Amino acid sequence: VETDQHADDLYHAIADDDGHGHPFLAHVDAGPQFSVNGSLGGATAANLRAWREIPLLQRAFRDVSAVDASVTLFGQSWAAPLSTAPWAGQIFIHPEGERATARGARAASVGYGLSSSTSVPMTEVAAASGPFLQQVYVPRDRTQAAPFIERARENGAWGFAVTVDAPRVAIGAPFRSHGSSTSADWPDGIPTGGADDLSLDDISWLTEFGLPVLCKGIQHPDDAVAAVGAGAAGIIVSNHGGRQLAGATPTAHLLPAIVAAVNVPVLVDGGIRSAEDLIRAVALGASAVLVGRPVAWALAAGGADAVESYLRTFVREVHTTMAKLGLPDVASIDDGCLFRS
Ligand SMILES: Cc1cc2nc3c(=O)[nH]c(=O)nc-3n(C[C@H](O)[C@H](O)[C@H](O)COP(=O)(O)O)c2cc1C
Repeated sequence: VETDQHADDLYHAIADDDGHGHPFLAHVDAGPQFSVNGSLGGATAANLRAWREIPLLQRAFRDVSAVDASVTLFGQSWAAPLSTAPWAGQIFIHPEGERATARGARAASVGYGLSSSTSVPMTEVAAASGPFLQQVYVPRDRTQAAPFIERARENGAWGFAVTVDAPRVAIGAPFRSHGSSTSADWPDGIPTGGADDLSLDDISWLTEFGLPVLCKGIQHPDDAVAAVGAGAAGIIVSNHGGRQLAGATPTAHLLPAIVAAVNVPVLVDGGIRSAEDLIRAVALGASAVLVGRPVAWALAAGGADAVESYLRTFVREVHTTMAKLGLPDVASIDDGCLFRS
């Protein structure tokens, strides 16, 4: 197993994240720094805390001489149930931007999500990423969306993640401070946030493009059921990393009821910082987790190489933690590894 002291240090520093930011971004401009680290009303710290408050329970006498963390989801095979979250404006963090994150994620054999507010043209990112999950903000003018969606499909997207939790953007929300980003992918300007009249008909319409549609930002089981009824093939439980609504409910608290309500894969993000958090999420029924800010910090720390080694370290720690818990494969991760009084 490759050991890389820098990646190990990065992993451990991120696993100890207290929700108040990291020195990794000290060298980038204040705007992008706030854009990544920022949060509304402590909602990011609440996400972190909720995962960590779930106690894990080790089991003995299980053969963990061979641990397999790999999963296949929507036809995609990953080294662990782990993907990078789609996040905007990566060129403000590192000159290679989304290209570097894509290359790092692919080299580490984990999933890659591309923001519709990419700062690098989609064609260039797609060449580096291989099959990717294209995040979509459906704009108010739906005719703008169709060419973008077609282009994502032509460039090798395996699915669409339509973000449903950002119909308006608050004063002080971190994603206001990016500075302007324009993209060849949105000639009329990138929509930030989504249409404030987004409906289930839009979800059905997106499914007509022939790829799996995941709804990102679902927080209520009834909304999950409605999305699946409209044709969604997956749900991403998310509160936008605590960036969108002060006082948002931590995703660890939302996950179990949504898993119970639908029979499609449920993914989750928000405050996942360690292998232990990933296992907690899978134990509560998640099919995979997405990580946002940790990947931004790795990108800032050293571009594609740092993203790759950070994600490889993450996957290695998933193996180690599964062994400690007596879990030989992902199918064996269930709520038996969580302490219930
Ligand atoms: C700098 C930044 C930009 C983001 N941009 C987007 C975006 O364009 N679209 C979207 O759906 N989510 C966006 N997100 C939210 C992430 O996809 C994800 O939900 C969140 O980062 C997960 O929480 P975590 O950062 O605690 O891992 C962004 C997050 C960050 C940190």
